[in-house]
Amino acid sequence: MGRNVLAFHLLLALASCVADLPTIYEYYTGDGITSGLGVDQPQFTLNGKEIFIYSGAIHYFRVPPQLWRDRLRKLRAAGLNTVETYVAWNIHEPRSGVYEFGESGTELQDFGNIGRFLSIAQEEDLLVILRPGPYICAEWEWGGFPSWLLRENMRVRTSDETYMKYVERYFNQLLPVLAEYQFTNGGPVIAFQVENEYGYADGDKVYLQQLVDLMRNNGIVELLVSSDGASSGTSGSLPGVLFQTANFGSDPAASFGVLEQLQPGQPLMCMEFYPGWPDHWSEDHHTTDPSAFRSNYEATVSYPGSVNLYMFHGGTNWGFMNGANNGPGDNSAFQAITSSYDYDAPLTEAGDYSPKYDIIRELLAQYNPVKTLTPDPPELVEREVYPTLALDGQLIFNDILARSNDSITSDTTLSMEQLPINDDSGQSYGYITYRQENIDIAAGSTLTITGHVRDTVMILLNGVLISNRLTGSDDFNDFGYWRMENSTITLTTEDLTGATLDIVIENFGRVHFGNLYQQFKGLTQDNRVYLNDQELTSWVIYPMQFHKDWINGITDWNPVDLDYGPAFYKATLTLEESEDGYRDSFIDMRTWNKGVVIVNGIILGRYVFIGPQQALYLPGPYLQAGDNEIIIFEQFQPAAEVKFSKDSIFNTP
Ligand SMILES: *[C@@H]1O[C@H](CO)[C@@H](O)[C@H](O)[C@H]1NC(C)=O
Ligand SMILES: *[C@@H]1O[C@H](CO)[C@@H](O)[C@H](O)[C@H]1NC(C)=O
Repeated sequence: MGRNVLAFHLLLALASCVADLPTIYEYYTGDGITSGLGVDQPQFTLNGKEIFIYSGAIHYFRVPPQLWRDRLRKLRAAGLNTVETYVAWNIHEPRSGVYEFGESGTELQDFGNIGRFLSIAQEEDLLVILRPGPYICAEWEWGGFPSWLLRENMRVRTSDETYMKYVERYFNQLLPVLAEYQFTNGGPVIAFQVENEYGYADGDKVYLQQLVDLMRNNGIVELLVSSDGASSGTSGSLPGVLFQTANFGSDPAASFGVLEQLQPGQPLMCMEFYPGWPDHWSEDHHTTDPSAFRSNYEATVSYPGSVNLYMFHGGTNWGFMNGANNGPGDNSAFQAITSSYDYDAPLTEAGDYSPKYDIIRELLAQYNPVKTLTPDPPELVEREVYPTLALDGQLIFNDILARSNDSITSDTTLSMEQLPINDDSGQSYGYITYRQENIDIAAGSTLTITGHVRDTVMILLNGVLISNRLTGSDDFNDFGYWRMENSTITLTTEDLTGATLDIVIENFGRVHFGNLYQQFKGLTQDNRVYLNDQELTSWVIYPMQFHKDWINGITDWNPVDLDYGPAFYKATLTLEESEDGYRDSFIDMRTWNKGVVIVNGIILGRYVFIGPQQALYLPGPYLQAGDNEIIIFEQFQPAAEVKFSKDSIFNTP
């Protein structure tokens, strides 16, 4: 009994002691705001008080907006005081001159509402670091560049006039929105990064200065920083104008040592500390040993240094928004990033705590000299394994094209980006079909596509798939994929008259790092198409963008024929009315081959049976009472049913 009373009093004392702790904003802004983030002594100061920045990256464009608060609260509960995010140009200017910051009614309206993300961050007692690029890398489609930039000749990431014309036009829209949320204006944003790892790029300092000027002229007053690997020295920065940070995942002494030489007597910050790593299709799922993470993170924090965890929570490359790597030159070394951006991060793709989460919490409680009121980690809601669904509808490939309302006839092939659609912004993402109608094809005829395709190709003859289905990653060396230069396929063993020939090409994601040029998709300038020796002309071109309105407008489904190759397959998940909303789940795609999954018009992402990703995250907020339409565009071989899984699934390809 006595022990219980004692324990009770201890608890009370503890509770009141915790309750006495100030929030971050009480601590740093309680007496008014006179200055932002300062770097003129060995420790950062914020509003004149010392601060270590313990930050984690969460990209608002990779997390369903309905879940922003949940993820930010979990970040704060880990003991972090700052969230960092890139700003993705292709979210905010989806068509040339069409801007989306949450009010323009485009498909990206919710993701584009960056102001709401910043407000929630502040409500959750977090400071913010913004990295508006305009180039962001991030393993995101073309490093954040909107694809319509490809319609004009320009050298991105340089002071090239055409490029800068569009950067200026975009920044003049974006930066006034961001400026409102600056710390010294009473908002959460304490710093802005200029460009991104520019030390690996062209070294055009005029360009960097132009970006700085655009920011200052648009009312950005907070600290401007650059971030690079330490080996880049000052080549990606502007000494005296941009405060330099370093990027690394281990050996903090080496990188901080370089910073100490470059900026003696100034604070040390790692802008990208890697607790995990992204995956490409056909690789093993990357994981980092938590104990290695612990020692590297502890060495960084105790150095002492400020640090941003890239990523704290990776989220999802939903839709077609994954990036890709490549070698220099042609498309032969192409490697697409998976739709899951789990990253083996402290918070998993679905928002679960991983062992690294607890390590961060423990280490920051120990090392952060400033004690603030830190919430408990929110309780997790269990995910649901919804009942396995039979397929209840199908549209074979010809039926999909028959529902297209934006086909184009053209003498020559046009790349996606050159199509005169979307207010002359071209097609950005998805698939595209080049059709020949009413042609005669003699037995033994071959089809040749010159150059490297961008990125996968299926051939259909009279609506039937005649190219091979995907059987393994070795197939990437053969017809249908990007590695082979000048690829040829035999079309038919019998004479055909009045045939329809379809060339279906997938944009598997544009390169996000390295050689960013020539990111055209579909049949590009490099790709000529020959029937035997005859170059083909007179095309009907079908953009297959899978826009939400178009998907949701599909009616008149046909019965299911499982022998068929590229097609839409539909299943219906019927849910009862629920006041608490619906639970998250994963869709288990292990028995399917390759394609994309769409739920209620929202493209969850791609699947490829070789992995490592085998299940697609289905956020509960994407579900609704009544019927939920699950549409799968399977390129090769469907399964008979749609199965759910409680957890993510990764295999070893
Ligand atoms: C591909 O075809 C082009 C001509 O169209 C030729 O110049 C090139 O050498 C060919 N490449 C290979 C690997 O055969
Ligand atoms: C095609 O239909 C979709 C969905 O109804 C609509 O949003 C789009 O504007 C249409 N496109 C054209 C070119 O008419």
